[in-house]
Amino acid sequence: MARLGIVKEGSDETRVSATPDTVAKLLALGYEVVVERGAGAASSFPDSQYKTAGATVADKKKAWSSEIVMKVNAPTDAEIATMVPGTTVISMMSPALRPELLAALAKRGLTAIALDAVPRISRAQSMDVLSSMANLGGYRAVIESAYEFGRLFTGQVTAAGKVPPAKVLVAGAGVAGLAAIGTASSMGAIVRATDPRPEVADQVKSIGGEYVAVDVEEKMTSSDGYAKATSDAYDRRAAEIYSEQARDVDIIITTALIPGRPAPKLLTEADVASMKPGSVIVDMAAGMGGNVAGSKAGKRVVTANGVVILGYTDLPGRLPQQASQLFGTNMVNLLKLVTPEKDGQLILDFDDVVQRAVTVVQDGTVMWPPPPVQVSAAPVAAAAEEKAEPTPARVMSPVQKGFLKGLGLATVLAICAFAPAPLPQHFLVLMLSVVVGFYVIGKVHHALHTPLMSVTNAISGIVVVGAIAQLTSTNIVVQVLAAIGVLLASINIFGGFAVTLRMLKMFSKGGTK
Ligand code: NAI
Repeated sequence: MARLGIVKEGSDETRVSATPDTVAKLLALGYEVVVERGAGAASSFPDSQYKTAGATVADKKKAWSSEIVMKVNAPTDAEIATMVPGTTVISMMSPALRPELLAALAKRGLTAIALDAVPRISRAQSMDVLSSMANLGGYRAVIESAYEFGRLFTGQVTAAGKVPPAKVLVAGAGVAGLAAIGTASSMGAIVRATDPRPEVADQVKSIGGEYVAVDVEEKMTSSDGYAKATSDAYDRRAAEIYSEQARDVDIIITTALIPGRPAPKLLTEADVASMKPGSVIVDMAAGMGGNVAGSKAGKRVVTANGVVILGYTDLPGRLPQQASQLFGTNMVNLLKLVTPEKDGQLILDFDDVVQRAVTVVQDGTVMWPPPPVQVSAAPVAAAAEEKAEPTPARVMSPVQKGFLKGLGLATVLAICAFAPAPLPQHFLVLMLSVVVGFYVIGKVHHALHTPLMSVTNAISGIVVVGAIAQLTSTNIVVQVLAAIGVLLASINIFGGFAVTLRMLKMFSKGGTK
């Protein structure tokens, strides 16, 4: 049975790699769990809770000398020196960006498992700390911006006047971006979003945002689920869009990242200068060089024109309890994978792409980079995208249109000239109703179709009354037409009520039952 050491992070970190709840799950995998004294304090998990969960609370030395050491952030040089050769350390490590860290881990003869190297395949989602942390970060970015922004997010009409809703632009609609869009739109803001991956458009719309497409002849596809660097044409058009948006919106949250590269620069100094005083920018990519000119990693900057730029790099850590809980759960899911017998023995199987990808150092040998993995996040192959060109709808030539209009007008005039009174008057009223009805109903916004249905119900009611009055006619043709009129108008009335009832149920608490 191996011993798992949950160690205390450096002073700036609020998260911890296991919570009392996840400790119980680690014990169920057969491990002995040792928690360094005070490891969970910054996440509001006191030592006593770990003890109750079944862990041993011990000093630094005992926790760091465990066979497996669990951490949130990559170990520092001093921490690497503390570990006994042969130890397995599991934490985030940014292996693509930190070759020197991998070399140091290898030199010490350790095995290193990088939780942030989980491939983007559906099966591995439950272990993906990048996703779970980005999700919390996106939420917190909106909360931080709302705190800095001196106005409401939601629009209001009050006796004291009208308050317009805040306008928020989210650059990059990945995990963090989508969380930010969802949060800002649920707070009542108007939210727009950009992303070079066109497949995100529907996701953005589904959570209340508006997708601002960068309209260039380029479709970004990726085989590893991450964005690639964009073309010059894309960047030029995107720059124009960001300049337009910067002048219009109140809050910008940037999340754009390209793995293994510095973050793309999206907002220039001129864009920031064109924003209204009191506007807020949250640059979630500040730790990777930043998406915004003038942002500083970990800092709050106020520009000369009064725009606040937040470059906080600890956004998930500002929700420490939940961040630790999600991180700890990702950790448990990984340990489940590498503890097949639930006997407290960590066994790595390199035939499994997930285990191969996360093992960045094995017994002193650097294993990074792993062989490429075809991932689920990659857009479904071009085949789906390149749907057959839609066949153009048949368009009438202007001559044909003119002929049809002339024919219709001649028919109306002929009826008016030759039909016996009072038919021409009724006919004209009918024609005018058709034209007015077409324009009034055809232009009604979709959201107003339910009230519209009530209006058509009322009209159908009048039709029913008129048709019933005609049922007593001695003419059999009039009787049959009146009966058909009653039938069709009744269908409209009862059908209308049924649909309205269904829609009302959808909006009432509990939905349709
Ligand atoms: P990320 O953190 O690598 O990048 C953030 C966003 O920035 C991405 O949406 C990217 O397209 C965008 N971006 C890059 N360059 C940009 C530019 N010049 N302008 C504007 N935006 C730019 O990506 P993240 O958030 O980790 O996820 C990306 C996708 O991968 C998502 O669709 C997500 O659902 C998927 N995913 C799937 C996983 C799985 O299946 N296990 C795990 C994690 C993510």
